[in-house]
Amino acid sequence: MTTQPEFHDRMLSLGLARVSEAAALASARLVGRGDEKAADQAAVDAMRNQLNMLDIKGRVVIGEGERDEAPMLFIGEEVGNGTGPEVDIALDPLEGTTLTAKDFPNALTVIAMAPRGTMLHAPDVYMDKLAIGPGYAPDTVTMDMSPSERVRALARAKGCDPSDISVCVLERPRHEEMIADLRSTGAAIRLIMDGDVAGVIHCAEPDMTGIDMYMGSGGAPEGVLAAAALKCMGGQIYGRLLFRNKDEVGRAERAGITDLDRIYTRDEMVRGDVIFAATGVTDGSIVRGIRTDPGWVTTDTLLMRSKTGSVRRMSYKTPV
Ligand code: FBP
Repeated sequence: MTTQPEFHDRMLSLGLARVSEAAALASARLVGRGDEKAADQAAVDAMRNQLNMLDIKGRVVIGEGERDEAPMLFIGEEVGNGTGPEVDIALDPLEGTTLTAKDFPNALTVIAMAPRGTMLHAPDVYMDKLAIGPGYAPDTVTMDMSPSERVRALARAKGCDPSDISVCVLERPRHEEMIADLRSTGAAIRLIMDGDVAGVIHCAEPDMTGIDMYMGSGGAPEGVLAAAALKCMGGQIYGRLLFRNKDEVGRAERAGITDLDRIYTRDEMVRGDVIFAATGVTDGSIVRGIRTDPGWVTTDTLLMRSKTGSVRRMSYKTPV
């Protein structure tokens, strides 16, 4: 029997930061250029090139889609140079393609790595999400509560008035009823155009971002990436997969999911240690976006490990 190399999260973390930096640098030239596809492709190419330099036997479990629809970084693709530990990779080379194309805030490149078999293989369907930051008792807010009940429950736990709570929500017609219910409490709502990984991460640092809670539906893959981030930073997230048709149910079944109504907690989406890196493409409340000076380019990266709870913000300046 051969023994597998250990998941040395500490050693691998800088490599992971390089992967997200490379994707951000590649998409930087496409910020504000109105071409979502080109920005995404540049990030995908760069992320894959860097990823293949790492000493890992990696497998993409959250990626650009299924093999037939994504030529690169598809779910199941083997990545890394094949020499290290067996790991699962969840990635979104450009989280916020429209944000990038329009130069709106909070576009990120995002990647998480964990030992093989420890991350939920979320299919590319929607997920109903609910997240709060660290320091609250389990189930302070639940999926069964209405949006206004969640605000009141969080306000009680925080020791403030419901009108002091700020909730982040994706601005979508499907969220209108939820928004109206939230408004009935007097809570503030920060509507975001895209990018709910960043939306969830905002909850982990309410003093910095002004956000206490995230709720609403968005991509399930983004839900797992957000769970990885909160596993490092502290905070709770719940997610329930949403299916619009048989094809989407089929995707879940192919991913090995049998209980379609299950509510996943953070630690059910990410069951073991995880490392997480996100680099700013456009400026945001979590990290700054790419800056260019004549001859130089600078990125800011959030690099975190769940094992230690370490949260690093790293600037990287390189000549162009
Ligand atoms: P892209 O990276 O593909 O632009 O996705 C952005 C995003 O806003 C995610 O953050 C979110 O989970 C999802 O799209 C929401 O989907 P929809 O736009 O269909 O509501």
